[in-house]
Amino acid sequence: MSSSSDPPVIAAAKQIAAEFEYSSVDVNRGVKEFLSEMETGLTTDGSTLSQIPSYITSVPDGSEKGVYLAVDLGGTNIRVCSINLNGDSTFKMIQNKDAIPQELMVTKAAAELFGFIAEQIEHFLQEHHGERYASHVEKRKMGETDAQQEDVFDLGFTFSFPVFQTAINRGTLFRWTKGFDIPEAVGQDVCQLLQDAIDRRHLPVRVAALINDTVGTLMARSYCSQGRSKALIGAIFGTGTNGAYVEKLARVKKLENSAESAFDTTTGEMVINTEWGSFDNPLKVLPDTGHDQELDRISVNPGVQMFEKRVSGMFLGEILRCTIIHMTKNPSLEMCGGPAVIPPDSALYKNWGIDTKFLSTVEGDSTEDLQQVKKELKSDLGLDHISTTDCKAIKILTHAIGKRAARLSAVPLAAIIISSGRLATDEPIDIGVDGSLVEFYPGYEKYIREAWREVPEIGETGEKRIQVGIAKDGSGVGAALGALVARQAERRKRGQ
Ligand code: BGC
Repeated sequence: MSSSSDPPVIAAAKQIAAEFEYSSVDVNRGVKEFLSEMETGLTTDGSTLSQIPSYITSVPDGSEKGVYLAVDLGGTNIRVCSINLNGDSTFKMIQNKDAIPQELMVTKAAAELFGFIAEQIEHFLQEHHGERYASHVEKRKMGETDAQQEDVFDLGFTFSFPVFQTAINRGTLFRWTKGFDIPEAVGQDVCQLLQDAIDRRHLPVRVAALINDTVGTLMARSYCSQGRSKALIGAIFGTGTNGAYVEKLARVKKLENSAESAFDTTTGEMVINTEWGSFDNPLKVLPDTGHDQELDRISVNPGVQMFEKRVSGMFLGEILRCTIIHMTKNPSLEMCGGPAVIPPDSALYKNWGIDTKFLSTVEGDSTEDLQQVKKELKSDLGLDHISTTDCKAIKILTHAIGKRAARLSAVPLAAIIISSGRLATDEPIDIGVDGSLVEFYPGYEKYIREAWREVPEIGETGEKRIQVGIAKDGSGVGAALGALVARQAERRKRGQ
């Protein structure tokens, strides 16, 4: 609330902040809409929630064993890992991580990106599994095709983009997100694209499972819980946002008429990847300020991923940038010195110029004169000698944008919890989470919990029962667990 004694810059920041308020009424409207879209998405493909069956029909209990490879593609880095599941809820992981060259993220030929991934796998095998790799190469030279099979690694492919999955190791990409744009890959089976690239290099690797990072997070959380509880939800609040959850198979109506591959129905459950980043694309219930509209306009995918654009790390920095720019355009405020003082090459003037990490710094700086904020305004945006009042204005904007994101994050989680029916039982309600926002943004979980308490079906009592825990490396260990499940299913099919 602004007061008459506020300096103009603070009053203006408070006015913008008010546009980002997301009330209890809004939260509850969001939850109702999400519940209804969940249902539609389980029945048809006409919902903004894709509700994608993962073909994973049980979650781990920690007793799983073996060595598996994983490739994690979903943000700015590519990771290749090998994971040794010890069978006692612990694992050992070795990994190589490399930045994906920008020219491979937005390109014409899918083979360029997938060829690059296969190259990283080859480097990884040479570096960390040299003996097994060399033995394979040797046998291949000698023409021993059967023996080759023994050396083959099963690989779980964490591919964190929207894919229509038709089997545990098959799925068609239907949309790129998070700044990727390779039109040729859309409509293709991404496992096949990866397997082809692997085969072109003659590597001893079989793509056994396709896993969304949220599914991996759910699996990792369950594996590491030492059998205490099987997680209900795996959620990512990082560069992008999304969630996967355990659904009753009988409710996944769209599988009944599907001609897709057979799967194990005995557990009566299926992990569903909601793809909640695209929740409410038509903006029936989501908030929509002028700054959100500006961000959507400059994005590579206007009109889609509308929930993600209000919640996830890739976008919050940009929303903040739009609000600061808005203030600098008002000459009477002289925000950051105004256009005459701000260096023309400052990242403040560049689309995507503010990293979301900056928001965590601002929110976390509790010093009187916001020392850390000043330091980063200088180092990241080239803004010198910014007054403490301007920094306070930036903090007001940041807090409003971050808190709205957290309260919005509460919506899908609340809806899934309500829909699971677990609030009426004494079953655990456990959520595994990962991603820079939930991990590093001060107060993120606290704001989510506040919003949950405002949902009557959850209330104070329900909120206390919900456990939230960081599940690190879901996209590594989760993918390994996916590959293991796929292998087990294949063995069962062959009657071994
Ligand atoms: C993708 C999801 C992914 C999420 C988190 C979104 O942009 O559509 O598939 O799970 O980011 O990485």
